[in-house]
Amino acid sequence: MIKFFTFDKEYKISKKKILYEIDKVLKSGQVFFGQEILKLEINLNRYLNSKYGLTVKSGTDAIYLALKACGIKDGDEVITSSLTAIPTISAIINAGAKPRLVDINLDNGLIDENKIENFINKNTKAIIPVHLYGSSSEITKICKIAKKHNLKVIEDCAQSFGSKYKNKFTGTYGDFGCFSFYPTKVLGTYGDGGFIVTKKKTDLKKLKLMRFYGIDSKSKNGYQSILDGTNSRMDHIQAAILNFKLKSINKDIKKRQLIAEYYYKNLVNISFLKYNKFNTSHSFHLFVVKHKKRNLIQKLLKEKKVETLIHYQNPIHKMKNYRKLVCNFCNCLKNSENFSKEIFSLPLYPSLKLRDQKKIVKSLNEIMEKLN
Ligand SMILES: Cc1ncc(COP(=O)(O)O)c(C=O)c1O
Repeated sequence: MIKFFTFDKEYKISKKKILYEIDKVLKSGQVFFGQEILKLEINLNRYLNSKYGLTVKSGTDAIYLALKACGIKDGDEVITSSLTAIPTISAIINAGAKPRLVDINLDNGLIDENKIENFINKNTKAIIPVHLYGSSSEITKICKIAKKHNLKVIEDCAQSFGSKYKNKFTGTYGDFGCFSFYPTKVLGTYGDGGFIVTKKKTDLKKLKLMRFYGIDSKSKNGYQSILDGTNSRMDHIQAAILNFKLKSINKDIKKRQLIAEYYYKNLVNISFLKYNKFNTSHSFHLFVVKHKKRNLIQKLLKEKKVETLIHYQNPIHKMKNYRKLVCNFCNCLKNSENFSKEIFSLPLYPSLKLRDQKKIVKSLNEIMEKLN
């Protein structure tokens, strides 16, 4: 079976070096708030060309803490896409706000920026565009809308590490950019991790306090909390793995782009997503295709030992827990409903062998030929 995702090949190749890095951390006797974390924050800021950045425990925490840093409180509303991973929504709800779901663009699955203003009211405080699949939303237009209505922009870049809109990385346009280092991601560790970038020193200061119970380490009065916070510290083992993997990130992204190119060139009779023309560099976290007979195709691919997944099978408002977010008669999220019925994702990761890529293409083309 060609797995949808696995890091075993990648780990096999780098095992010695990774174990060396982990051993170094454990021998140092320090696993939190030391040099390894500072090194990662410097490396990530340098890579992304971001002004300030802070490691946290996960991508979900990154969004939650960014919302809290914006001062989000009960009764506030936050606009986001109706097609995203659950954590985007749970972060908004945990921050005390109500998610307002906007429909997507049928071409690419990203928030339809032209519909955002319909959802803005006096309670709206922020917009969270989600750069799904590694594909960039219309971020400059979204920032313009936000500026006009005095709203914050928090970019959900969990899936778009290394993707560029025009000449800048996603995550560096809004007030905050939130990244995830979950193992499947473009830059993934072997555990959990997240990163928040921001432009303001005052926001960085707040985030630093909030990721560790609001503790003021410089306080002259001993153990002190000066702001509500949580435990969202990243450990040095994850940081060391990320520092190591960051060295080859450009090569890894290039490999992803080459696999995507191979799929584009060789797959027939299946629809591809159309990417934004300003998405100058696409890091292909996922390779999503569309077809009306999606379920049958997935089943036939499984029989041919090719594993595929759906991102996502249910738009947010169709999930049991989130039906309450929209009115029953609402028809305004139709695109996300139709889109999610047709999409599925093919395996794509840097260690996916050419032999496997060929098998995926051959299997899917054979199925499509029979179906047509
Ligand atoms: C779009 C999106 N947002 C947020 C997250 C949350 O990241 P994490 O799993 O690191 O908490 C993920 C990852 O699952 C994601 O895909």
